[in-house]
Amino acid sequence: MSDSIYRAQGLVITIDGPAAAGKGTLCKALAKHYRMKYLDTGTLYRTLAYQLKTQGYVADDAAAGQRIAATMVDHYDFRHVGNNQFGVFWDDEDITHHIRSENMGGLASTIAPITEVRDAVVAFTREYVQRWQARTGVVVDGQDGGTVVCPDAAVKIFIDASAEERARRRHLDMQARGRDDSFEDILAAIKGRDQRDRNRPVGPLVAAEDALVVDTTQVDAAGVFELATQRVEASFS
Ligand code: C5P
Repeated sequence: MSDSIYRAQGLVITIDGPAAAGKGTLCKALAKHYRMKYLDTGTLYRTLAYQLKTQGYVADDAAAGQRIAATMVDHYDFRHVGNNQFGVFWDDEDITHHIRSENMGGLASTIAPITEVRDAVVAFTREYVQRWQARTGVVVDGQDGGTVVCPDAAVKIFIDASAEERARRRHLDMQARGRDDSFEDILAAIKGRDQRDRNRPVGPLVAAEDALVVDTTQVDAAGVFELATQRVEASFS
């Protein structure tokens, strides 16, 4: 693999899909394999939701959301914390644990439709991509990467799975972390989030026309990685 270290310079890969479809697993594997920079854009919406909550605003306060979103460049950081794990920091405080809850995912999907918030997050993401594309290439994890943020990305993948399968995975994941949320509650939260994400008027969750669509209900993580690397390799030739 050593000859592949710099092969991904200039490359942008967008991995889009709904909650708990396996985007993070695929993005981390691709970023590691091709030595690319990775940005999980879901953490931007989650961080905004968390900041609104801790600063005492209601989740749909568009003006506060826009104001905080515009300052993210000074406060927010997404970085590798070892062992192929990534942390989210606000002024160097590790907020990863706070933003990863299903509750914060739900709040994030409540602020995500606000145009001013989306504009600020999209601008932040584009700047990030611009900063790293030529140096390392970038893997962008999100919902509108292939359609809105990086419509010219050379590789676009949309991964999906049934709501039941995604809830089953999220349930196992939470149990492994010592949480006892019921499967029914998780399924209801995922369905609610899907409904908001797929139907919002700006940057809705939808596959780009030129994306490779993979249903991970049928394909395991290794299989998805295999399909994705075939796409990436084809883009090199
Ligand atoms: O991917 P993740 O579960 O972390 O995303 C949390 C929420 O943030 C999503 O359900 C969606 O509402 C929002 N989001 C978005 N656009 C993105 C990434 C996430 O609207 N690019």
